[in-house]
Amino acid sequence: MRNYFKYLGLALGVVTAFSFMALVNTVSVSAAGKSAAELQREQALANPYPNDLGPDRLDAATMKAYPAKFFTGLAAAEKLMAKDDHTGQLPADTGGYALMLVRCSTCHSAARPLNSRFVEVPGEGKPGTPAYIASAAAAMKKLKAEQPELFDAKNAGVWEVGDHIWSRYVHRMMNKPGCPVNGVEGKKIWEFLVYDGMHRKVGAAAAAWKAHQDKLIDEFKAKYPKRYAELKEDNDL
Ligand code: HEC
Repeated sequence: MRNYFKYLGLALGVVTAFSFMALVNTVSVSAAGKSAAELQREQALANPYPNDLGPDRLDAATMKAYPAKFFTGLAAAEKLMAKDDHTGQLPADTGGYALMLVRCSTCHSAARPLNSRFVEVPGEGKPGTPAYIASAAAAMKKLKAEQPELFDAKNAGVWEVGDHIWSRYVHRMMNKPGCPVNGVEGKKIWEFLVYDGMHRKVGAAAAAWKAHQDKLIDEFKAKYPKRYAELKEDNDL
C-alpha cells in the first residue's frame, strides 16, 4: 500500500511537471506572438543537419525505377510547394513521395528525410502483425550478415539501420505541434521512406550512398563547424 502511494505521488508529480511545461510553452508562444508551429519551424531551421545540404527532390532516374504509386498527385503537390503551402488539401490517392514532399517540408526542407541515414528493413504481409515483425527481424539479420559495414560504428553518419526507425520518426514528427500529417498520410509517407531506404541506401546502392553522405558530412563540417562538433558529441552524426 505504501508503495502504491509512492507511485501515485510520482505519477502526479510527472503530470504536474508536464502541465507546467505546457503552461510555460503557451505563455512563451503568446509573448513572442508566434504559433507553436512557427516555433517548431524556427527550431528546425536553427539546428541544421548534414541531410539538409542534400537535394530536396529525388532525381528523375530514381523516380523512374520506383513504383508509380508513390508519385500519384505529384503535380498538385508541386503546386502547393510553389505557394509554400504545406497544409493544403491533396486528393485521397496522393502517393507517399508527393505527401512527404509537401507535409514533411513544413518545418525543414524535404532534404532532411530524403538524405537521412535512417534505414528500416520491412517485413512481409500486414505491418504490425507477428508475421510481419518476424519476417522483418529475419531480413534484418540477413542484411547484417551480408553488409556488416552498414552496422559499423565508424559509418554511423552514413547508415542507421533500426527496427521501426522510420515508423518511430514519422510518429515523432506527427507529435510535434503544427505537424499537418494525418494518420493515413503518415502511413503512406512511412511506406515510401522504408522503400526508398532499401533501394537508395543499401544493397548494390550502398557505395554510392556512402559517397553521397560522406560528401554532405564534409560540407556540413566546413559550413557549420560548431554544430558539427555538437552532433558528433551527441552521436547524431
Ligand atoms: C512541426 C515541424 C516539423 C514537421 C512537420 C516535420 N518535422 Fe522533422 N524535424 C523537426 C524538428 C524540430 C527536428 C529536429 C529535432 C528532432 O529530431 O525532433 C526534425 C528532425 C527531423 C529529422 C532528423 C532526425 C535526425 O536525428 O537525423 C528527420 C529525418 C525528420 N525530421 C523527418 C521528418 C519527416 C519524415 C516529416 C514528415 C512526416 C517531418 N520530419 C515533419 C520538425 C518537423
